[in-house]
Amino acid sequence: MRIGIFGTGAMATALGTHWTNAGHELRVAGRGRWAEVAAFADAVLLAIPADAVFEVLPQAGPLRGKVLIDCTNQPGPTGTEPPPGTPVATRIAAAAPGAHVVKAFNLASADVWRKPPATLTVPLCGDDPAALDAVRTLVRDVGCTPVLGGGLDRAHLLEATAAFAIGLWFAGEDAQAILVSADG
Ligand SMILES: NC(=O)c1ccc[n+]([C@@H]2O[C@H](COP(=O)([O-])OP(=O)(O)OC[C@H]3O[C@@H](n4cnc5c(N)ncnc54)[C@H](OP(=O)(O)O)[C@@H]3O)[C@@H](O)[C@H]2O)c1
Repeated sequence: MRIGIFGTGAMATALGTHWTNAGHELRVAGRGRWAEVAAFADAVLLAIPADAVFEVLPQAGPLRGKVLIDCTNQPGPTGTEPPPGTPVATRIAAAAPGAHVVKAFNLASADVWRKPPATLTVPLCGDDPAALDAVRTLVRDVGCTPVLGGGLDRAHLLEATAAFAIGLWFAGEDAQAILVSADG
């Protein structure tokens, strides 16, 4: 797959390293070259702050038919709540008509993505079957198991889940422990 990454930070590096190792072709854009990288790519990882996404998308050229992977988390006013209003993934879909948005990779930290446990399951929310298949491949190439979380209309649940977990981490709690099953 030809993968574009917007952003050169922690998430771009962590996920991009796995995808390069899996044999994908990668081009990365940081503070420019958005349109060049988007034109090259079948799938673009938006690894920049959520607010920045809406500054960058208008500069990214035609995105119709591209898979846009939204891994963003946007902290609300307290830093540990989802922001009020329309979910980021929904706003991305509105800002990039014809693109296929898939929300994924937002629930674990970049440190986890660098070396994820093989047991890690990655929920995806999106509407386009081919785009979801492409992101399933990219999840497997990171060494994890994809699971369908529903359509893009459920992406707000992933955004809220991340905000809830981040709130627990900020409070010094073990966010993972809240979802342990009866047999451990
Ligand atoms: N880090 C995590 O653990 C984690 C986990 C899940 C989801 N996420 C989400 O993933 C996304 C990327 O996070 P990250 O941790 O990789 O961030 P990061 O390490 O801080 O990197 C952010 C990248 O975005 C660029 N950027 C910042 N503001 C920009 C702007 N206004 N216009 C264009 N580019 C801009 C930065 O460029 P410069 O270097 O030039 O500033 C950098 O390349 C965020 O939406 C975050 O919520 C992060």
